[in-house]
Amino acid sequence: FNLPDSHNEPAVSYAPGSPERARLKAELDRQYNQVLDIPLIIGGEEVRTGNLLTAVCPHEHGHVLAHVHQAGEAEIHLAIQAALDAKADWENTPWEERAAIFNRMASLISTKYRYILNAATMLGQSKTAHQAEIDSTCETADFFRYNAKFMEQIYRQQPLSTDHTWNRVHYRALEGFVFAVSPFNFTAIGANLATAPAIMGNTVVWKPASTSILSNYYLMELYKEAGLPRGVINFVPSRGSLIGKVVLDHPSFAGLHFTGSTGVFNSMWKTVGGNLEKYRIYPRLVGETGGKDYILVHHSADLVEAATAIVRSSFEYQGQKCSACSRVYAPASKWPQLRELILGMMARIKVGDVRDFRNYMGAVIDEASYDATMRYIGLAQESPEAEIIWGGKGDKSVGWFIEPTIIVTTNPKFITMEEEIFAPVLSVYVYEDEKLDETIRVLDGTSPYALTGAIFARNRYVVNRLTAALANTAGNFYINDKCTGAVVGHQPFGGARASGTNDKAGSFLNLIRWTSPRTIKECF
Ligand code: SER
Repeated sequence: FNLPDSHNEPAVSYAPGSPERARLKAELDRQYNQVLDIPLIIGGEEVRTGNLLTAVCPHEHGHVLAHVHQAGEAEIHLAIQAALDAKADWENTPWEERAAIFNRMASLISTKYRYILNAATMLGQSKTAHQAEIDSTCETADFFRYNAKFMEQIYRQQPLSTDHTWNRVHYRALEGFVFAVSPFNFTAIGANLATAPAIMGNTVVWKPASTSILSNYYLMELYKEAGLPRGVINFVPSRGSLIGKVVLDHPSFAGLHFTGSTGVFNSMWKTVGGNLEKYRIYPRLVGETGGKDYILVHHSADLVEAATAIVRSSFEYQGQKCSACSRVYAPASKWPQLRELILGMMARIKVGDVRDFRNYMGAVIDEASYDATMRYIGLAQESPEAEIIWGGKGDKSVGWFIEPTIIVTTNPKFITMEEEIFAPVLSVYVYEDEKLDETIRVLDGTSPYALTGAIFARNRYVVNRLTAALANTAGNFYINDKCTGAVVGHQPFGGARASGTNDKAGSFLNLIRWTSPRTIKECF
């Protein structure tokens, strides 16, 4: 068989007056005006525990979107059992048929589910229509289509045979179940964390972030409608510490597919290390964690391009992408022009309810994030080493709104240059043009992370020098482009150092972690 060709889902623009905008608005109204009761989904059955969590709009935190049933220990065990029970049938389903389900999932997204997932992502995670479209529609559909293709690439990798021996590799799924733990910031990441192991024949216990349950629940509806068999993905919202303990303690735990904070990943890894004797196999640990992503501008750069990239990668989705730029190194000779260009763009940014399509930014995800971010801004306000040149204010009375904020600091190791904030706060350090080498060293040594980074330079010699010198500072490195927006199939995504295991989402390198190959030699 040949699978259908993969392609990237084109983004709809939702232009004023377009039928697509009208349809999205109608779906936003529908979802805004109902309060869902969201169950666990275990082995295809809805399970209600009565232990409820409330899901609200970040930009209107008094508005309830859903009550979410949370799993206790008994339901977590049920979910593990459901995954184990579903395993044999799913693993033995011909891979072309698994691929067909995934292609159907993508196809359903490009039609009906585009509106459902985008509206849920806008309301529940405070994304603008465009940010929701490139996430819950385009990137999600891309993961489904391309992962089917990557699976095919892997399965077609076969060893040599002779006239007398037939050697082959049987790409088994892992023995046991996979635990997927997803963050709030991309609906697509939640989709990929659970479905990448699944397409390779694994069954999954999925714990979505408590702040993205609405869109993640609709993903479960999509999987069902596309024909994904019951028990392949089990939807188990729960308290992180509880589900982590129960799952990582289980002898059939076979792999962790994680995106979230470095601290949580480290602590799970340690728990796994302490439990090794309990497990049947060495579990696969795949994690994408924190970031402190940078843009370094050289004086040969096109400044309009650099300013646009800085503003977009720092403030789209309120700086809450793992790839978001949060530190800029700007050359002193060009800083006055670059600053003027950036501030000109900042003046056009509107912050507010994402249902008003004129707003470029919504609210940050929750009160804890709001408070932590305002504390960082407070440190900058008090420090003689820092000056806030834009924004700096917040208002949490209606939604968790923070103005896009730019701090210029004379200390390249100022706390906001070093620590991940995950919010619309950008720090800028202005370096002396002739001190480029020193700046590279400072950049490399300032944060433990290495997720994304970008350089802007037109001098080819400088491009080559920076690309080589910054080799270990980013898993995704961009030359003359913003540091966000990796496209599935085009820029495999993931970071090293404290940013994760670098098992590139959106490529065969990720899928290969979810198989345990058996080599078979047969003699004739
Ligand atoms: N893949 C996203 C990006 O590149 C971040 O998770 O922006």
